[in-house]
Amino acid sequence: MSAPFGHLLSPGRIGAMTTRNRIVMSPMETMYGTPEGHPSERTIAYFAARAAGGVGLVTVGATGIDPLHPETPGGLQIGTDDAIAAHRELVTAVHEHGARIQPQVVHAGPDGLGPELHGVTSLGPSVIPSYLTGRPSAEVTKEQIATVLDQFRAAAVRVRDAGYDGIELHAAHGYMFLGSFLAPQRNRRGDRYRGTSVEGRARVVLEALAAIRAEVGTDFPITLRISGYERVAAGRPVHDTASIAPLLVEAGVDAFHVSGGVIDRLVTRMVNAADDGDGLNVGAAAAVKEAVDVPVIAVGRLHDPVLAESVLADGRADFVALGRPLLADPELPRKLAAGEAERVRRCISCENCIDTLEEKLAAECAVNPLTGHERELVVPTSPAPYLVDPARPNAPGRRVVVVGGGPAGMETAWRAAAAGHQVVLLERSPALGGALVAASAVHPENRPYLDWLLAEVDRSAVDVRTGTEATPEVVAGLAPDAVVVASGGEVVLPAVPGDDLPHVSRGLDPDRVPSGRRVVVVGGRLAALEYAEMLARAGRLVAMLEAGSEIAPEVGLKRRTEHFDRIDRLGITVHVGCVVERISSDGVRYVPARGTSRLLPADAVVLAGTVVPSPALADAIVARLAGVAVHTVGDADLGPGLIRGATGGAARVLQSLF
Ligand SMILES: Cc1cc2nc3c(=O)[nH]c(=O)nc-3n(C[C@H](O)[C@H](O)[C@H](O)COP(=O)(O)O)c2cc1C
Ligand code: SF4
Repeated sequence: MSAPFGHLLSPGRIGAMTTRNRIVMSPMETMYGTPEGHPSERTIAYFAARAAGGVGLVTVGATGIDPLHPETPGGLQIGTDDAIAAHRELVTAVHEHGARIQPQVVHAGPDGLGPELHGVTSLGPSVIPSYLTGRPSAEVTKEQIATVLDQFRAAAVRVRDAGYDGIELHAAHGYMFLGSFLAPQRNRRGDRYRGTSVEGRARVVLEALAAIRAEVGTDFPITLRISGYERVAAGRPVHDTASIAPLLVEAGVDAFHVSGGVIDRLVTRMVNAADDGDGLNVGAAAAVKEAVDVPVIAVGRLHDPVLAESVLADGRADFVALGRPLLADPELPRKLAAGEAERVRRCISCENCIDTLEEKLAAECAVNPLTGHERELVVPTSPAPYLVDPARPNAPGRRVVVVGGGPAGMETAWRAAAAGHQVVLLERSPALGGALVAASAVHPENRPYLDWLLAEVDRSAVDVRTGTEATPEVVAGLAPDAVVVASGGEVVLPAVPGDDLPHVSRGLDPDRVPSGRRVVVVGGRLAALEYAEMLARAGRLVAMLEAGSEIAPEVGLKRRTEHFDRIDRLGITVHVGCVVERISSDGVRYVPARGTSRLLPADAVVLAGTVVPSPALADAIVARLAGVAVHTVGDADLGPGLIRGATGGAARVLQSLF
């Protein structure tokens, strides 16, 4: 039974702007913009999908006011008049779905890519390194500050002219122009803007607010994004924001958006890991709310709608902003409104959205392959009845056999059924879930996604046949128009002398924790790493031996670093670049990188192995069913393709069935 979400779903107000509910889309850089930094068709389709999903207020991610100082390549800007038309198109597309929209305006200050892209020196409160490139900024003069304030003024006029409903001024996270002035650890000035006094470091934010207010008048809503607590040594004290909030209201703030943490290259403290806990900026938001009368938006791991609702019900904030949850499921607000909270597809905290910014220069979501691909992927966006784009689900009703009930198979099956195909899903074992069952045991954030897939397949028209071996004969007997093989990868185990000893486990079985205190895990892919973490949480002393130069090479740097932190906390030892020579009853003999042969004591040894693609079944089906399209998705196609590989493969295959 869904909880009612009366607070989240009640209308809200920020200054003169009314919103249909209290759910705000948090600003997120996606890098979908044109090379000039204008909203592209991709940008527009992405935001339109969120608006159609029912969010009250969309905040566009960091939008620069000075094209010479972009924060990212492909990042948006509104620093020139020729950007207005594209922004207007974006606004219109969002308004068509009943949502409000405002951009987060920024001057990248010391943290821009001006030096790299335009040969200019970055502008900071002091000579400080950019968090991204390390290149130092110049200490801005009073005259340069005045120029930046003029740019804020001019940008605010463009924001209003583009039809936006308001503006979010970004001063959070101790970075960019305003945030770094506010941060004492970065602002080393000695003048009236000095970082050692509250008034000094807040001055430029107050001036920016006054400049914008002077241009846009009293009835254009201004939200200020500011950190409640920046959680950095010698940084802003925990009470700082509440203590300046009244001054900021006097200068024109209509709402506070209270984030937290300082920036670093992996946005560690502002886009928090699951280990950091949920709702971590709520206390700081509540402190601001206690000091002023304007509305306060709380943000940061409010991923469970029940938690988000309780934050509002307890009067700790007036709105909640959601970032990753709306990448994972744009229809979250509609599902709450329909009384179907359990149908929300939850973010699994895998950090793929951040890691793809660096890897692909565009944000993508592991559980939602349509994020950023709303235009070109013509597949059902969501299970019925949440098909926000009625132009999509219109397949000619073909008979599709899906082989394998893991994530790739289930994802293909529900999407194909939602598209109008007749789908039979064959699974050899007695239950669906495949590799995601074990992945959920070792990374609990995966569990809601597994449950969601199981429930949606159950709810769909998919004909599920568990306990059925999908031989080519069985598949042929179903007379399919198309076959999708999602039968999983093959686990290849290393051959090591002694691997037949009784204390050696072959493969990763989260239901079987080896007995004995000291466990050596041979192998360092993501699955092995998560298994090792599980063992360490169960009280084992764990060591990992990996032959390659990296552990978990299949994930990006943010996710990997979160694992490094966990390894550190759990006391797991890790050796890469090592050669395992043999296993004996008392341990594992190995040669560490740049070292000589030694014995690592062990009561138990786990050979993790490697997942490789497994094309054999698909090949046999192709041979048996001449003329029928046979596709392979997930680990059977990619080896360790992770959830993002499963969902992406499913979406691409579906596309080919239209
Ligand atoms: C892909 C991505 C891009 C982000 N870009 C911005 C940004 O441009 N400006 C900003 O203030 N915060 C940015 N954030 C932080 C989010 O607005 C939000 O504060 C953070 O993700 C925590 O909320 P969540 O737990 O709901 O995701 C970004 C987060 C993500 C995941
Ligand atoms: S990519 Fe991962 S962390 Fe990012 S929104 Fe999607 S599920 Fe969440």
